[in-house]
Amino acid sequence: MKRVFLETYGCQMNEADSELMAGVLERAGMSIASAPEDADAILINTCAVREHAEQRVLGRLGEFSRLKARRPGLVVGVAGCMAQHLRARLLDHASVLDLVVGPDGYRNLPELLRRAAHGPVAHTRLDRDETYGDLEPRRGSSVRAWVTVQRGCDKFCTYCVVPYTRGRERSLPLPDLVRQVERAVAQGFKEVVFLGQTVNSYTDGERDFADLLRATDRVEGLLRIRFTSPHPSDMSERVIGAISECEKVCPQVHLPLQSGSDPVLVAMRRTYTVGEYRNLVDRLRAAIPGLALTTDIIVGFPGEGEEDFQRTVEIMSEVRYDSAFLFKYSARPDTRAYRWGETATEEEKGRRLEHLIALQQAISGQLNDAWIGRVAEVLVEGPARRDPGQLFGKSLQFKSVVFAGDGTPPGALRNVRVVGATPHTLIAEPVGAARPEAGLVQIA
Ligand code: 5AD
Ligand code: SF4
Repeated sequence: MKRVFLETYGCQMNEADSELMAGVLERAGMSIASAPEDADAILINTCAVREHAEQRVLGRLGEFSRLKARRPGLVVGVAGCMAQHLRARLLDHASVLDLVVGPDGYRNLPELLRRAAHGPVAHTRLDRDETYGDLEPRRGSSVRAWVTVQRGCDKFCTYCVVPYTRGRERSLPLPDLVRQVERAVAQGFKEVVFLGQTVNSYTDGERDFADLLRATDRVEGLLRIRFTSPHPSDMSERVIGAISECEKVCPQVHLPLQSGSDPVLVAMRRTYTVGEYRNLVDRLRAAIPGLALTTDIIVGFPGEGEEDFQRTVEIMSEVRYDSAFLFKYSARPDTRAYRWGETATEEEKGRRLEHLIALQQAISGQLNDAWIGRVAEVLVEGPARRDPGQLFGKSLQFKSVVFAGDGTPPGALRNVRVVGATPHTLIAEPVGAARPEAGLVQIA
């Protein structure tokens, strides 16, 4: 067992977990393969939040079973939330599988892979103390380092499978996180993104999320701090104060709304009302000039009627998010809402989703158009995918920006003037002199 191919689906927590797995495997003398064809083992890190995510993985397993027919020694494993959700049942369901490992089993991954070469293995015990705090991830080469500060979730929103797949909420000690950030900066990373299912409920027993932001704001050489996803109910005045006062914390907050209707929010067990959410948006905007807001919204939750849906349309039109992740409700086994069945037809859900997509597209377009003529500070990530003659990076507000390549290296900040916009991208021109000295020294 030498070379492992890792494929990742789902959220940034999964991206970070895959980097953690890569670190564990490399320390055990294994290497990360760049293609499934070159690997002795294939590991898919999966998501279970919507049925569609699981179906995609099952499709992918079908492809790997053809590869395995040609290479019988190949070990195929599923890790992450879908593994935890379906547990050993997955081994019966997909005969290609040799290994099923949940989010708390990654410490023993090398051993599990070796065992799986000799017969099917399932490791799906959740561990309320596992934080992997002592393990060094193998971070991807980018200017942005993911730092998981909290694992699991205690909120139990009634539609959500995460508390069942990732277990109870636990945070890493603040000094360990400061050390992780310092190490990432020493490796050349310029931005950190703190990750947690409800990241702003972070507490290590003594210190909260505001303390974490303030402590890491002092790390020298770090340029930007972001975090995702906060829960509206945990957005304390202390946290708002820290976001607004910390120089490196970017003016960008992803604030999942889920629904604009109070009865639906109660049924979802979101623990805030639309009025409280609206008030929070006002306080954030008052405290953080130039704040960009994004959100998550679900349509077709059980009991969501036309009236409820209209309330969602209203608040989206009122808040005017910079962008939004919009989802059709997907009933997930194990969750409370699963027992309530479905009350919206697939067509109705589709119609509501299309309506919100069109609304958001228009708002994103207008907000991005308003950037035309203004100067934005871009943290350059590298050549643009579509046109390597252009550079790509993110603005402070986390908007994608492309501009004519002027030799600015990845990891450097560049001021640009926005000259055009689409709902997804700002098109810009460099202004003033480049500052290459701020560029990446070295990437691990
Ligand atoms: N169906 C649809 N969307 C869901 N999400 C979580 N669970 C479900 C579900 N069962 C969405 C929420 C969450 C985002 C990560 O995924 O909007 O914020
Ligand atoms: Fe799921 Fe709610 Fe926890 Fe987010 S806060 S992970 S939506 S249960």
